[in-house]
Amino acid sequence: MQHIKQYVSDNKQRLLDELFELLRFPSVSADPKYKPEVLKTAEYVAQKLRDAGADQVEVCQTAGYPIVYGEKIIDALKPTVLVYGHYDVQPPDPLELWKTPPFEPTIRDGKIYARGACDDKGQFYMHVKAFELMMQTNILPCNIKFMIEGEEEVGSANLGIFVKENKNRLKADVVLISDTSMISMEHPSLETGLRGLSYLEVEVTGPNRDLHSGVYGGAVANPATILAKMIASLHDENNHIAIPGFYDDVVELTPAERTALNNAPYNEEEYKKDLEVDELWGEKGYTTFERTGTRPTLEVNGIWGGYTGEGAKTVLPSKAHAKISMRLVPNQTSDKITELFTKHFLSIAPATVKVKVTPHHGGEPAVTPTDSVAYRAAQKAIAESFGKEPIPTRGGGSIPIVALFEAELGLKTVLMGFGLDSDALHSPNEKYDIFNYYKGIETIPLFHKYFAELSI
Ligand code: BES
Ligand code: MN
Ligand code: MN
Repeated sequence: MQHIKQYVSDNKQRLLDELFELLRFPSVSADPKYKPEVLKTAEYVAQKLRDAGADQVEVCQTAGYPIVYGEKIIDALKPTVLVYGHYDVQPPDPLELWKTPPFEPTIRDGKIYARGACDDKGQFYMHVKAFELMMQTNILPCNIKFMIEGEEEVGSANLGIFVKENKNRLKADVVLISDTSMISMEHPSLETGLRGLSYLEVEVTGPNRDLHSGVYGGAVANPATILAKMIASLHDENNHIAIPGFYDDVVELTPAERTALNNAPYNEEEYKKDLEVDELWGEKGYTTFERTGTRPTLEVNGIWGGYTGEGAKTVLPSKAHAKISMRLVPNQTSDKITELFTKHFLSIAPATVKVKVTPHHGGEPAVTPTDSVAYRAAQKAIAESFGKEPIPTRGGGSIPIVALFEAELGLKTVLMGFGLDSDALHSPNEKYDIFNYYKGIETIPLFHKYFAELSI
């Protein structure tokens, strides 16, 4: 441990400078205008892997953004860890809410503010630097492979194909991912599950053109009003989702699992204060941890229609739209949920409008084992580095590749994230604590050490 800390301390400034360089690339996968920058980011990541000592480094082309691969095989008989991460980031909008520009990383109060600081550049780069550390100090105890993709934030559409076509190259004993959160630095934790996702867009069409809201208003159904009503009806008075069959496949936790989950530290007053809400909301009969980690949800991610510009325009819109996501839990599948939603949403449309539902992307939920050698290695690494045993939690977010790795490669994943839910992922002013960045670089070599030791 001492020589690990020494290396980090000797290279402190450079480790930070390199992350800053990475954060300056606006690698937004959702918006085609950033395409050249996304491609440059892949090249940068590949170069950094080479510099750190990886072999067979390749920027692998796909039908979308490339996947960066690299490996270091020290001994075919030793276990292999496959590190996954993503170099793409969410769009920075709304720009005006950023205190400093999203692609000009800035330190305030010990935290790095930038889009991707935590999700996932700051986190996957810890692995590149931990690898460099292990190479430089001659302590790499196992084989290591890197697969860093550029389409995670848009659903990883091409990753499944890549995994299927590269089964041999990706052969490993476990997948290691840092792209999730801890409860806090005082309460280190390990996520043991992720939710799945079904994302779609709905369009409600009324009259064939925008109308004068005085001339026609009152005689023709307003699609914005209809859409609002349809959406409101998707939750009942207990905040259950009112789509027939929606909960059919949901696996209920055992009372023991529920108790364990709710044992994690939680301060409701702080939670509300942080978000500046006076009261929380959610499915009746479940705690906040259960609502975000083990229960499926339905959220409107965006809703628009009619005039949304400056000032006023009296108009009855022809169309109204919404983007809707549903988070799924084991044993739900995104295809089935998308189908149930579509059928239900069309069925509740009044005859005054036409409704169209367009599926976007999806991903399957996953649970990760807590009785495996790899999980034990992560526990030991965190216990040693933080001085405390990690608490198992369930994450509310989605990383579709986790279920895919299991289905295609038979590989289990360890989710060793070092972010915080309050790091403002996907929000303005995303941040990552410098402390967490260094702590991650120090903890990761311990994972490899214990994984190699315990695998024998
Ligand atoms: N890193 C997140 C997922 C995450 C965040 C998991 C925090 C657990 C805790 C990832 O980059 C992400 O945002 N995934 C998307 C899904 C994807 C299909 C667009 C998500 O969860 O919305
Ligand atoms: Mn991520
Ligand atoms: Mn994300």
